[in-house]
Amino acid sequence: MTSIRRHRIRLQGCRRRVSAGPDGVHKCREPRAMARQRGSYRLSNFADGDGEIARLHVQATIFDAIDWPMLEQAGLRDGMRVLEVACGPGAVTTRIAGRVPGAQVVAVDRDPGMLRRARAATDAAGCGHVSLAAGELYALPFAAGTFDFCVMRFVLQHLHRPADALAEGLRLLAPGGRLCAIDADDGWLSLYPEPPVFRALVETSGTRQVAANGNRHIGRKLGVMLAEAGFESCEVDVRVVTTSRFSRADFVASALSFRVDDDATAYDPDRARTELRDWADDAARPAWGYVGIFGAWGRKPGGG
Ligand SMILES: C[S@@+](CC[C@H](N)C(=O)[O-])C[C@H]1O[C@@H](n2cnc3c(N)ncnc32)[C@H](O)[C@@H]1O
Repeated sequence: MTSIRRHRIRLQGCRRRVSAGPDGVHKCREPRAMARQRGSYRLSNFADGDGEIARLHVQATIFDAIDWPMLEQAGLRDGMRVLEVACGPGAVTTRIAGRVPGAQVVAVDRDPGMLRRARAATDAAGCGHVSLAAGELYALPFAAGTFDFCVMRFVLQHLHRPADALAEGLRLLAPGGRLCAIDADDGWLSLYPEPPVFRALVETSGTRQVAANGNRHIGRKLGVMLAEAGFESCEVDVRVVTTSRFSRADFVASALSFRVDDDATAYDPDRARTELRDWADDAARPAWGYVGIFGAWGRKPGGG
């Protein structure tokens, strides 16, 4: 584990307590008011936490062919000071770091379990230029203007206050720095032929995410949100991935199976699992899945 200090990116001198634990991960104590607004994603909510981690890795693998072009288009370059907000288990961190070996990459997440896994992933990938830090993304422990590039992937859909997260990204960028948000939108998710449970499953999980202060239709909004947050030269791209490029089983695992709710009343959970498995496994039957991933990026005013 390389420390933030070693990379000359300083933890901000703030009233919150910041310290490096025995694992070398910097920790910032979460203010109580923020604890009330946790949003719709917690690893501890998954009955099978390891399964969820595996899903995030599969998802990073199958979307890599669209993530990287979007990040490059957004202006990510080697040598930059890069902040990845809500890095999860480091599945995307290692991919970014591998492509910008001369960058200083700082990856943050509020979940210590995610950070432990991210550290294992970056160590295994030999990413010595990646530092990890614990933090609440609405108030990260870095001084204003610390970074040249900020990535927020698959996190804004889970937030109670996504606009405030973008405002924090804007604060942390140097003038001329760029932020890229990548996220999904259930309006761009389809299977054909459609298993009977598909609509009830997608609608129920969307409703549940709204109840937990998230939003599964955020992809289409990202460009407007960046502009409203104060970014300039904003652009949006949406790229569709199909099961022509990866297996139906991986598609179902990364986009649908994890949404099956054992307490659902709108569908039978066992039946839903069977239908999804049959859709994925019946190779003799032609079928395709499609998912659109949105990228939006913009520039902080000022700079050269
Ligand atoms: C769906 S995972 C995505 C992980 C990673 N960005 C990726 O694309 O694979 C969402 C991550 O956001 C983190 N997260 C959610 N809310 C957060 C917050 N308020 N502050 C910091 N991290 C947060 C979670 O701990 C989790 O690791």
